[in-house]
Amino acid sequence: MGRPLAKHRLFFREFRQNYHTTGAILPSGRRLSAALARYVGRDGQVQRVLEVGPGTGAVTRSIVKKLGPEDRLDLVELNPSFAALLRKDLAADPAFRAVAARARVIEKPVEQLADDARYDVIVSGLPLNNFSVESVEQILATLRRLLAPGGTLSFFEYIAIRRMKALVSGPSTRKRLRGIAHALDSFLDGNEIRRDAVWLNVLPAWVHHVRLP
Ligand SMILES: C[S@@+](CC[C@H](N)C(=O)[O-])C[C@H]1O[C@@H](n2cnc3c(N)ncnc32)[C@H](O)[C@@H]1O
Repeated sequence: MGRPLAKHRLFFREFRQNYHTTGAILPSGRRLSAALARYVGRDGQVQRVLEVGPGTGAVTRSIVKKLGPEDRLDLVELNPSFAALLRKDLAADPAFRAVAARARVIEKPVEQLADDARYDVIVSGLPLNNFSVESVEQILATLRRLLAPGGTLSFFEYIAIRRMKALVSGPSTRKRLRGIAHALDSFLDGNEIRRDAVWLNVLPAWVHHVRLP
């Protein structure tokens, strides 16, 4: 499915049917996708790259453009409709087909990836603010485990989204959002190597880039 409009329609359908895991009305825009792919293909060394929650492949498109000739790409996606679309694109879309022999779609939650998997670059599109504090902590622990020494994790969150959600939410959601803020702050503290603001996106977003000790 190469047509952007059809992908937007699929994304919106999944937003309505699976709001909790989809977490956005539209796929990431070009600028946000490019910021998320900042550390792909930078070293001149072979990279194992993991994209978490690729959805309809908006960020994947930026990633595949930057992959080196021997880099490998794993796409871990729990939604079967998105996983099927990604498989189709790897078979038929020229940009994706160019890396198809070195890419695979893993249809499961990222928390279930093999214990011994390690990646030099991880790009995550997960809607963390939709999850429970316990899930966010588990996902952050998973990403920590999956990142190879010296590797880089890039992920985004919409600017001021927790504050905006808190304004229209009851006490239990506000408590959950404070817990997520706390978990993310502890994760980023001393580990964030760069933060990009992407204003031209629906919605504007921060991209956090993290290297762990
Ligand atoms: C906000 S969308 C981002 C999609 C795409 N990366 C983009 O930026 O347009 C979140 C994606 O994460 C996927 N997802 C949610 N929880 C997941 C999990 N635990 N493991 C893998 N994928 C997950 C959803 O199915 C969805 O495709």
